Amino acid sequence: MMMKKPHLFILGLCMISCADAFIGMNWGRLGSQTMLPSMVVDLLLQNNIKEVRVFQQGINVLEAFYNSGIVATTGISNSVLDNYQNLSTVQWWIGEKILKYAQVMEFRYTTIGSNPFSPIYSKKNYLNVVEALINFQEGFRRNNMSHIKATTPHYTDVLTVTGKSKPSEVDFRPDVKDRMVKYVRFLRDEGSPFMMSMAPIHFVQTNGLDLEFGFIENNSTHRIQDINATYTNAFELIYDSLHWALYKAEAADVKIIIGSIGWPTDGYPGANDENAQRFFQSFLPYIASERGTPMRPKQNIDVYINSLADENQIPPQWGSYQRHWGVYKNNGEPKFSVDFSGKGRNVYPSFGKGVIQMPNRWCVFNRKLSDPTLVDAMKTMSCNVSDCSSLEEGGSCSHLSYSDQVSYAFNAYFQTKGQAAQSSSNECDMGGLGVLVSDNPSNGTCEFPVEILSAEFAVEGATFGARNDGGKRLVHGRISASLVMIAVLYIYLYSP
Ligand SMILES: *[C@@H]1O[C@H](CO)[C@@H](O)[C@H](O)[C@H]1NC(C)=O
Ligand SMILES: *[C@@H]1O[C@H](CO)[C@@H](O)[C@H](O)[C@H]1NC(C)=O
Ligand SMILES: *[C@@H]1O[C@H](CO)[C@@H](O)[C@H](O)[C@H]1NC(C)=O
Ligand SMILES: *[C@@H]1O[C@H](CO)[C@@H](O)[C@H](O)[C@H]1NC(C)=O
Ligand SMILES: *[C@@H]1O[C@H](CO)[C@@H](O)[C@H](O)[C@H]1NC(C)=O
Ligand SMILES: *[C@@H]1O[C@H](CO)[C@@H](O)[C@H](O)[C@H]1NC(C)=O
Ligand SMILES: *[C@@H]1O[C@H](CO)[C@@H](O)[C@H](O)[C@H]1NC(C)=O
Repeated sequence: MMMKKPHLFILGLCMISCADAFIGMNWGRLGSQTMLPSMVVDLLLQNNIKEVRVFQQGINVLEAFYNSGIVATTGISNSVLDNYQNLSTVQWWIGEKILKYAQVMEFRYTTIGSNPFSPIYSKKNYLNVVEALINFQEGFRRNNMSHIKATTPHYTDVLTVTGKSKPSEVDFRPDVKDRMVKYVRFLRDEGSPFMMSMAPIHFVQTNGLDLEFGFIENNSTHRIQDINATYTNAFELIYDSLHWALYKAEAADVKIIIGSIGWPTDGYPGANDENAQRFFQSFLPYIASERGTPMRPKQNIDVYINSLADENQIPPQWGSYQRHWGVYKNNGEPKFSVDFSGKGRNVYPSFGKGVIQMPNRWCVFNRKLSDPTLVDAMKTMSCNVSDCSSLEEGGSCSHLSYSDQVSYAFNAYFQTKGQAAQSSSNECDMGGLGVLVSDNPSNGTCEFPVEILSAEFAVEGATFGARNDGGKRLVHGRISASLVMIAVLYIYLYSP
């Protein structure tokens, strides 16, 4: 509906030559209010991003990509792996999720599970992931679609790499080694890539390294000397460690792509806009230069940036910073300058168009501290329902006084509830402790958000292949019909 520009000319370019490394984007939608799929597609096109990894691929999401020329990677989550141990269900999935769309859009990879062997995401090891993956590739073959490669994103922790490892000494973790060897040999035989997820900030912090080692630029004093190579940053260290593990598994030629890499802006020490900007300013030109690593020089490394926008409903047990990976705030505003072309220019990405901000009103604490237990209970309740990760240690609002933190929590709740627009109850009552204000209570870098209107009704069960297990399904359809009408009218009148 929104896309009036002719984007068709992009289609097909990649079929001629895909030799250049691509810089793509991850797009997840675990937010209380999210941009409409058509807005997101428009945003990607404005930024000339032609590859996207979609984490929740409902029909409404895929439709937005029709004839856009953007190549999509979709997949299934860990929680449904059991269903795909059997080729007939895999064939059904391919029919419903790929073949139906194959005339109007292009698919790159199909991701089978997500970091299935990672202890930080789940205590469960999804050992059946390899069988599901083999079924998917066989399913593609039977449909004459072998060009779509099934692969599985693995997090850094499938390797024994630490902050002190020499890459040549790294291997796959002993408890999953048999599975990994079987897996990478299958990739080798199919010509499929190994997809690695990286979080440099988490790697350096959990390994006791200086933050500088998380950046690609050569500023860290930490050095790892290995045979003929010197490692000065986490990316090359991890990448070459994986190379050595593949080599030992007799799969040295398997291509390595990065399914997820970025820098969060809140919820963790060192997570802020400045550092995220710095990270991309050196990392993207490094990728575009195709310089490669010491073990794999002159490599085209395909990368998916994590991620498009913040997702305030990602379960917090994996670390609050997981909610703050976005290059964009969820209202379509870029947080910092980043040049997706990899030329390292100091440019801001295009703003999201057609996003409608809710009214400028905030719910804050009235500072009546006479019943401290009630205040605390209301704060806890608010944070349980909404996102308070900015209040945590290292977070952008952690410097606030107790009362101001309570205000932050009340507002987070109020906004998550869509400013009570869809209910008759007073969502700013807070047991008599809340008060509505129209002066922005933000404090320095601590921003009190205002929600956006997300006029979307997702079909039940349409959020197939969510990123998370135990997952929270997207809950939409909470905005009243009249607001939707206003939103649609607004988009119609004001979109480019
Ligand atoms: C595969 O799963 C389907 C549906 O659950 C079932 O009907 C069929 O018998 C299974 N086939 C095999 C070979 O296990
Ligand atoms: C795949 O291609 C072969 C040979 O061109 C053809 O016989 C077969 O019917 C095709 N299968 C499908 C599912 O399109
Ligand atoms: C980084 O510094 C090390 C020595 O400190 C040097 O050997 C290496 O060439 C430098 N790398 C780059 C890319 O500047
Ligand atoms: C990192 O090093 C580069 C030169 O290699 C320098 O221009 C830059 O200011 C340094 N950045 C920081 C944060 O030290
Ligand atoms: C380092 O040694 C490895 C293995 O001996 C070799 O493949 C690689 O090309 C060497 N790299 C450099 C930068 O000399
Ligand atoms: C948090 O929310 C969940 C689900 O909404 C609820 O079951 C739980 O009791 C709440 N916990 C607190 C401390 O409010
Ligand atoms: C910012 O927060 C601090 C700590 O809560 C508080 O003392 C200060 O008054 C706040 N400033 C504004 C402008 O609200």
